Amino acid sequence: MYQYLLAPISQRSARIGVMGLGYIGLPLAVEWARVGFSVTGIDTDSERVAMCQVGKSWISSVSSDDLGLLARGGHLTATSDLTVISELEAIIICVPTPLNKMKDPDISAVLSAVESITTHLHQGQIIVLESTTYPGTTDELILPRLRQTGLTVGVDFFLAYSPERTDPGNSPYGLQNTPKIVAGVTPTCLEVTIALYKPVVNTLVPVSSTRTAELTKLLENTFRAVNIGMVNELAIMADLLGVNVWEVISAAGTKPFGFMPFYPGPGIGGHCIPVDPQYLAWKLRTLNYRTRFIQLASEINGQMPRYVVERVITAMNETGKCLNGSHILIVGVTYKRDVRDLRESPAIDIIELLRERKAHVDFADPYIPKLALMEVTLVAVPLDDEHLQGADCVVIVTDHRDFDYLYIAKTASLIVDTRNATTGIVGSHIWRL
Ligand SMILES: NC(=O)c1ccc[n+]([C@@H]2O[C@H](COP(=O)([O-])OP(=O)(O)OC[C@H]3O[C@@H](n4cnc5c(N)ncnc54)[C@H](O)[C@@H]3O)[C@@H](O)[C@H]2O)c1
Repeated sequence: MYQYLLAPISQRSARIGVMGLGYIGLPLAVEWARVGFSVTGIDTDSERVAMCQVGKSWISSVSSDDLGLLARGGHLTATSDLTVISELEAIIICVPTPLNKMKDPDISAVLSAVESITTHLHQGQIIVLESTTYPGTTDELILPRLRQTGLTVGVDFFLAYSPERTDPGNSPYGLQNTPKIVAGVTPTCLEVTIALYKPVVNTLVPVSSTRTAELTKLLENTFRAVNIGMVNELAIMADLLGVNVWEVISAAGTKPFGFMPFYPGPGIGGHCIPVDPQYLAWKLRTLNYRTRFIQLASEINGQMPRYVVERVITAMNETGKCLNGSHILIVGVTYKRDVRDLRESPAIDIIELLRERKAHVDFADPYIPKLALMEVTLVAVPLDDEHLQGADCVVIVTDHRDFDYLYIAKTASLIVDTRNATTGIVGSHIWRL
């Protein structure tokens, strides 16, 4: 059967469905459509479906021009109608895998997507999971559900895992030039997966099992979370020692081997770094193993917003001001520079903590017009003389490239810079992490 599937893939006549038109799914759908496949985006969010249909992008890595061209040409369509699954040869799952309130994995979107696929599964289809998840999801959770149809994996249908490696805002690396891990449940599953991704990714890296691929993805993001945790603690230690942590990292970075610089910050955010290690920790808990590095990094990283607020209080205290009743201007609120993604952003915790301590908080961010907090919604203010001079303290939380840091440094009376965005600018009114 897999020969019958390889032929339409190599001729690019195979119809591909991408479930979940988010940061991961939309760019993937666009790439396959661009190289000639007929692609259908499937999403439960009717607004995203409608926007896709008219070629209006909601993700910075996909331009509305590109999306519009593909939509108008009929290469990329979108729907919420799940019956379309039965018309597709390939179905790629890119749905969210967040944490629940107990900080345990919430894979309900994956299960719901798999349930829809199971209803429509037939011979000659390949299903690839892209969502980040714990080792065992593909073979323990998805495979048994698909097998209930009576079809045989590797013969009638094909199942694979291929984690996404997108780094939003990191323009030199996109889908095509970032090597991609691929793993099949059987050798034929792997072969079909490689054929499917080859037209859109330059380098594919096959691994021996879907569990290996799942753990590889978690290693990549746990590596980041642990190293950021270590360097965040270094920032706290350097402050106690009266040393500039940024200078230390820059000096250590001159070593041409055995060192890789990581930088401290106000805390970690986004869909991946704070979340993915918890998937691994949860899975290991079910095996009676406690993941100590993950636990420690998560504790330190989670405390950083509080540490930033302490720095603000200390800096203001030095100038004879107290936080209660003061005006604080937060510069940048997204979780990382040059993206419009607010998920898990430490800026939100920082603002809530400042408001709890009765500060009046404003924010400026070119990517975010409004910020919904627990009790109020803040509207962005311009980064101008009025707001910079009116603030008792300006806190740089996200170092967007659009900001003019020299102007900020010259205009504000007190700055707490959590990103070293003001590097090279001298002034005793600038407090760095
Ligand atoms: N954003 C990143 O930078 C990044 C990087 C690597 C991996 N990932 C992983 O990729 C996966 C997707 O992340 P994202 O950032 O694209 O999420 P997202 O929230 O931006 O998009 C997910 C989309 O899936 C849709 N959806 C939810 N349930 C659905 C269902 N049952 N059927 C169809 N559509 C459904 C949602 O409406 C939404 O549009 C996650 O597992 C994430 O961890 C994300």
